[in-house]
This record gives sequence, structure tokens and C-alpha cells, in this order.
Amino acid sequence: MTDLIRQLEAIVGAGNVLGSDAVAQRARHFWDPSPMTALALVRPATTEEVSSILKVCSSHGQTVVTHGGVTGLADGEKSSTDDVILSLERMTAIEQLDPVNRTMTVQAGCILQSVHEAATEAGMFYGLDLGARGSCTIGGNISTNAGGLSVLRYGMTREQVLGLEVVLADGTVLSSLNKMLKNNTGYDLKQLFIGSEGTLGVVTRAVLRLRPDTPTCHTALVAFENFEQVTQTLAHISKSLSANLNAFEILWNDYYHLSTNPGVKGSSRAPLATDYFAYAIIEARGANQQTDEQQFMQALEVAIDKGFITDAVIAKSESERSEIWSIRENVDLTLRHRPLFIYDISLPIDQMQTYLDGVRSVLRQDWPDVIVYAYGHLADNNLHVTIAPQPENFIADPQEQPVKIQSYSDTETAWYEQCNRTVFEPLAKLGGSISAEHGIGLLKKQYLKYSRTPEEVKVMRLLKQSLDPQHILNPGKIF
Ligand code: LAC
Ligand code: ZN
Repeated sequence: MTDLIRQLEAIVGAGNVLGSDAVAQRARHFWDPSPMTALALVRPATTEEVSSILKVCSSHGQTVVTHGGVTGLADGEKSSTDDVILSLERMTAIEQLDPVNRTMTVQAGCILQSVHEAATEAGMFYGLDLGARGSCTIGGNISTNAGGLSVLRYGMTREQVLGLEVVLADGTVLSSLNKMLKNNTGYDLKQLFIGSEGTLGVVTRAVLRLRPDTPTCHTALVAFENFEQVTQTLAHISKSLSANLNAFEILWNDYYHLSTNPGVKGSSRAPLATDYFAYAIIEARGANQQTDEQQFMQALEVAIDKGFITDAVIAKSESERSEIWSIRENVDLTLRHRPLFIYDISLPIDQMQTYLDGVRSVLRQDWPDVIVYAYGHLADNNLHVTIAPQPENFIADPQEQPVKIQSYSDTETAWYEQCNRTVFEPLAKLGGSISAEHGIGLLKKQYLKYSRTPEEVKVMRLLKQSLDPQHILNPGKIF
């Protein structure tokens, strides 16, 4: 046994240091069953243990990759056989729920869904929600500044975090467990760590901001014949529903078609015909049982009367609501295509259709049958674009033929790079972003220049150098 492993065992106990063989029993990623790789995986139970672990690792120059729920989509959690994985899976406590100040203090390994449940039980609401809610952790949400399904109302993770406790590379515990909305006392250090993908420190605890509960919920799936209707509806609905508008999610036809295709195992029922140009899920949440329903219905009726919406279905029960949302959340069905290239981009809303048409036409020159699935958080300027260059390579029923995620062949790697250029290059001209919410990780680091200036990257490097001079934290990620 090496000196390093012995020291780690002395901190957390032998049972909480897994060797490389035990690590390989785990799946690399939520969506990828191939084995996880690491020198060792350490499972601390407290901030003090995280601090001791980082002190030991930094004295050995040992690289550390921090893990939450491993549901990220930028390979930010990817580790090699030389890395120690620091998993926060034992730090799941909700330490305090403060109803007067509307805050919840949690350990970083706490699952997002547990936060939702605890907030609801206390008559409050946590403003961040995303498909991976049952697996992703608050620490992971913070490290990636996760976005999700209600950003248009509550903002991204950055806006849900009032206070943070972080352990720096050398083991220093930086405690900024602020609980107030206002605290203008110099640099807001916590913001440095939010969205820094584990490269500047390890998030161990957070004070989250809670919101008043919104007991009314109204959900509709609507259909459009063209993109102009989409933008007209967004403008109209934003005004009519005002602060109650909680989600406006778009699904272009290809995605809706896949997600509701009865020939695809795991697909959802199609509440509206499958041949419309695009669809949106519109959801309002509020507190007024008397007027919220009327406001929602009226907003939709006006949209139909004005010709902004061609067809609509309104959820009449929680099960109809889940059915509608399942169409949006069937993202894993796209993963049955091989190869598959997933993007998470931002661009001005009015440019989206022209952009998508452009990307499709460039890709069709090389792959005439290419499918470009497009869906996402339209009101946040954020689209998820998923490219399947060979749509015939699709597994309709994973029970008959298991979905195996393999690394790309040389040809597929060349295709990926070609798709990257096709997707990213026009974004620079549009002032868009190559990553709206998933982060840079490893997958997008060579394209950072499309969204950040050399001066911005230089300051990022300066921060990295100051806080982690040995580059032991999540090495090689972002830049
Ligand atoms: C979503 C993930 C892909 O919005 O960000 O479904
Ligand atoms: Zn998303």
C-alpha cells in the first residue's frame, strides 16, 4: 500500500477508501455503464475530513476529481487511473431549514430531490429543477452552475446560493455561509466557485435560498406551425402570466416525434398530432387558487384566438401533467443513436430558427439523412441540439439490444470535430455561447475561444494559478 493511501485511510477509515478495482465496479457516468477509473475513491463524511484529504493530496501533488451525482454532460467528472476521486456521497445531510429567513443549509452531497421534498414539506419551494433531480447533487449543481427547467423565473444555481463553504486545494476551509440576500462586503468569493467545475475548490456546504410555495400549477402542451408563432406566444404568455410563468420549454418536431414514437420503447403518448412544426410546454405556478386557473386559461385562449397557437392540450390532473413533461424529459431516448453528438448552446431567440436551418443544411451536405434534434429552454436563450449523423444506427428496444456507449472510433471523432465546428462557429458571430448550462469540462475546452476572449481566459488562468498553484483540482478541465 502506498503512503498516500495509508494517509487517506487514516482520515476516513479503510472502508471509505476504494481501490482501483472497487472503483471499476462503478459506472463511469449516469448514462455510460463503462467502468469508472481512478487510483482510489475517497468518501469523507465531514468538511474537516475533506480538508485533511486535500492537505494530504496537495503534499503528494496528487490530482483530485470531485464527484457528485455524475450526471454532468461535459465530461467534467471524468477521471484517469492517476486521479483520486473525492466523492461526497456520504455528505448528504440537510443541516438546517430556516423558515423565517427562508434558507436551507445542506451538505454538498445532498440530492436535489431531497431539497425539493424538504422545502415542500416546510411550505416553501426551491427554485432549481432539472431532469436529473433524483441523482444530481447540490454540490454538482453548484460546481456547474446548473440551469434547468425554471431558470426564466428563478435564475440559475448562482441565484439560489446565498452562502458557501469551500475547501481549497491546500486544505484551507473557506467558510462563507452567509444567509442574507444582501452582503456587499468586498468580493463575493462564493461566486468564484459557482460554475468553476471543481477546478478552484471543493464545495462542502451551501446555504440555499428558498422561495414562497406556489401551490397552484397549470401546464399546457401547445403546437405551432412556424417559428414566428413561437416568439409571438412567448411574448404574449410572458406578459399575461407575468411572474407566474414558470417554464416555457420548446420541442421541435424531430424531438417530439422521437419522444412520442410508439415504436420506440420507453416513449410517451402523443397528446397532440406529431406533424406540427414545433411544440412548447408552458407552465404557470402561483398562490391564488381563485384566479390562477382563469389567468392561465385566458392567456391560452387569447393566444389561440390571435393565431399564435394552432393546437393545445391542458393537463387536467397530475398524471396528465407528468405525461406532458415526460415528453420533454425523454432525453435518454436520443442516446440510443450511435454516434450521437450533444450540444448545449445559447443564442438570441430571434436567431434560433435561422441558426438551426443553417446547421441542418451544412450537415446535410455530408450526411443527407442526418437528424438534428432540437429542444430546450427557449426563454433562457438555451437550446439543446443533438446530432445523429447516421439515424439508421438506432436501438428501438434496449431490452433486445443493450445500449452500449463506446468511445468514438477515429472516423466518429473526425465527425464530432466537424459537427463541433458547424455548431460552434456561427455562435461566435451571433454573440452566443458554446455552453449555456452544462459547462466546458473536457468536451468543449478546445472551443472555449468561441465564447471567451483571450483576456477572459487569461484572468481565469490567473485565478486557477492563485488558488490551485499545483493544478491538482480537476486537472485539465475548462482550459
Ligand atoms: C435538459 C438537459 C439536457 O435540459 O440539460 O434536458
Ligand atoms: Zn437543459
